[in-house]
Amino acid sequence: MKFAFIFAFFLPTLVFSQQNAWFADAKLGIFIHWGMYAVDGTSESWAFHNRTVPYKQYMSQMTGFTAENYNPIAWAQLIKESGAKYCVITTKHHDGLSLYNTQLKTPQAPKQKNWNPKFPLSTTYQTPAKRDLIAPLFAELEKVGLKKGAYYSLLDWTSNDYPGFLKDSSRYQIKDDPQRWANFLAFMHGQIAEINTQLQPDLFWFDGDWEHSETEWQASKIDSLIHQTNPNAILNGRLKSYGDYDTPEQNMPVLHPDRNTWELCLTTNDNWGYRPQDHHFKSHFELLSIFTECLGMGGNLLLDIGPKADGSIPSEQIAILKEFGRWTQKHSTAIYGTIAGLPYGHYHGNSTLSKDSTVLNLFVPSPQGANPDKLNLMIPIYIKGIKSQPISIQLLGSDTPIDFNEVGKISWSSVPGTLFLEIPISAMDPMISVVQIQFKEPIQLYRGKGGFH
Ligand code: GLC
Repeated sequence: MKFAFIFAFFLPTLVFSQQNAWFADAKLGIFIHWGMYAVDGTSESWAFHNRTVPYKQYMSQMTGFTAENYNPIAWAQLIKESGAKYCVITTKHHDGLSLYNTQLKTPQAPKQKNWNPKFPLSTTYQTPAKRDLIAPLFAELEKVGLKKGAYYSLLDWTSNDYPGFLKDSSRYQIKDDPQRWANFLAFMHGQIAEINTQLQPDLFWFDGDWEHSETEWQASKIDSLIHQTNPNAILNGRLKSYGDYDTPEQNMPVLHPDRNTWELCLTTNDNWGYRPQDHHFKSHFELLSIFTECLGMGGNLLLDIGPKADGSIPSEQIAILKEFGRWTQKHSTAIYGTIAGLPYGHYHGNSTLSKDSTVLNLFVPSPQGANPDKLNLMIPIYIKGIKSQPISIQLLGSDTPIDFNEVGKISWSSVPGTLFLEIPISAMDPMISVVQIQFKEPIQLYRGKGGFH
């Protein structure tokens, strides 16, 4: 008994606060990067910051931002269909253009004539879209029961009160002009307050915190101004030490992120926004594999799409969301509301557990390109160190029975044998299958070094 623990003992993700409980259970979110950068297909904001495109030329993309085919009902339906439980959209990226209805004017530097500083720098006033693009989406998301997330860039490379501008040229240093920085903070905090009251997001997804310190951003003020009126709002972990969860970006963590709750944000190709020349899409199999990695480590996936300037979604991304929909619906019991799976050493793959640890879900990748009709083959898998006896083993979405064989069990030893399972390829999901094992009690693990105890 020395090495037997209730498995839940190992899981850092078990401690959820009331406030972020929905978030940890949600598992899949859709990220939307939409902005003027979709017009010419430049990189979002970075194009001018890194001097790939002159600032003036970058900002002139606003004249082509029409949103003429924008259909928030269809967007919300597609996102719902993907199996996502929340959606995060750019209300303002680093370029300073608000897609929501801000009333606050962005101070303009002299001689920048590509937008009219008499009006707020928003899609309503400065683009042919002529309207708030966020509120209608939030309304539709709410109708279909999805949580609403507002991405907001703390830094604003367009505001003349903001120090940073191009990668190698800044406007000023805070220490030389604290009043100018105070003016920026008033503007930026004011926009967050507007988003908070006008849009009432369930989640704030901040970005760009790397340019200043926690004290400079007045992060504690941002935190309290949101929570005063929106006490349940979740904050991502990009407000320095504030926030409820970690947000590793693009690269799958190998070790568990620092905060209990976490989310990987990931592009479907190599860019956040719409870039027609980028055809480097990850395959459905690759994306689902990364998703199961996140699930296995108790995290979420925030999968990004970049709509075109007219509001249509690239066909590759529609196909990806539909494939996620097919896969998540078929395997929902192995996804939503689960916790991280078996710790290292028990299974060579990703897995999840039900919160009460009585159900173990093993993700088994299918042989890619295999023609299931012609194959009478099996995929062998095994798990070891499982002290609990399975009461049922099921391949989700299939009636095919799965047998197991316990190998190496010594009758007088408490150390469990190794469970070998064979999964018929013909019954497998074309991408990734789920073997769901039910136990009578919360799973008990042997964590010893081998031998008889
Ligand atoms: C980075 C980039 C930004 C992008 C974000 C998404 O922080 O600056 O362009 O929106 O990642 O996670």
